[in-house]
Amino acid sequence: VNISHANSRVSAVLPTGESVEVLLFGATVISWKDRAGNEKLWLSDAAKLDGSKAVRGGIPLVFPVFGTAPDHAATSKLPQHGFARNSKWEFLGKSSSESASSTSHSDASVKLDFGLSSATLDEKTKGLWPYTFSAIYSVTLTPEGLSTGIVITNDGKEPFDCQVLLHTYLRINDITKVKITGLEDSKYIDKVVGAQTKSQSGAVTITGETDRVYTPAKGPSSPVVVTEGGSNAFSIMRDNLKDVVVWNPWAEKAAGMGDFEPKSGFKNMICVEAGSVRSWTSLETGDAFEGAQTLSY
Ligand code: BG6
Repeated sequence: VNISHANSRVSAVLPTGESVEVLLFGATVISWKDRAGNEKLWLSDAAKLDGSKAVRGGIPLVFPVFGTAPDHAATSKLPQHGFARNSKWEFLGKSSSESASSTSHSDASVKLDFGLSSATLDEKTKGLWPYTFSAIYSVTLTPEGLSTGIVITNDGKEPFDCQVLLHTYLRINDITKVKITGLEDSKYIDKVVGAQTKSQSGAVTITGETDRVYTPAKGPSSPVVVTEGGSNAFSIMRDNLKDVVVWNPWAEKAAGMGDFEPKSGFKNMICVEAGSVRSWTSLETGDAFEGAQTLSY
């Protein structure tokens, strides 16, 4: 496995050709390619990669709050989606596993670990959220797919509440041909129409601005599948992440976002975001929360 750590990012290429690139800013995965070099994630042409703004595309990491929570005193001062995506993470190292066979490296995979803790947060953020925590985010690339998982530990004396979301921008060719299955018969909150609670029947199709928080009735062990024109494009497996956000800004919202380019890019992306965001996870002193997703195609 070929690893490079330069230019504020870490990238890895498997002997079979798959690759991943992670920016230290936000520990944001900004590229994931299959062995033929096809990009699987959508990244805006105008995404800021210099740390001046959260990355528009890839997999930004949402913690400790999803959206904003004006009614939740402990997190009410934080910016939209918290500080994890806007903080500089530390690269903790890699562990790779090569194939058992000496003649073939076809099973080689790599895990890249990143860390963030209250001790390394900037002073401003510490002032907005004064809790003592540590987080380890692991990005694992295999020939079959990409897994991203987070462990958050309360290292302080006070309990704290948090939410976590893996804000994945999947690259697709034509949003009008996309169907999302695995969310059938599930309740969701429709953020486009004043946070109404609705019920999904059948597959999800996207025909306009979409911003929904699903809690899939089938539970986390059942995959959410994105198909395009009838063929499987992505499968998302979740571990301990009970909610799934489905987001597409459509034309008007995309036009209003300075870092969303090209403006027609909403046709080429769909955010399917595994997380724990409907309720708060309370972590007592010494407790840890663990959540992960595995994306495959
Ligand atoms: C989604 C939210 O997860 O992220 C949307 O449900 C939000 O409401 C979107 O618009 C993008 O957020 P941001 O902060 O990256 O523009």
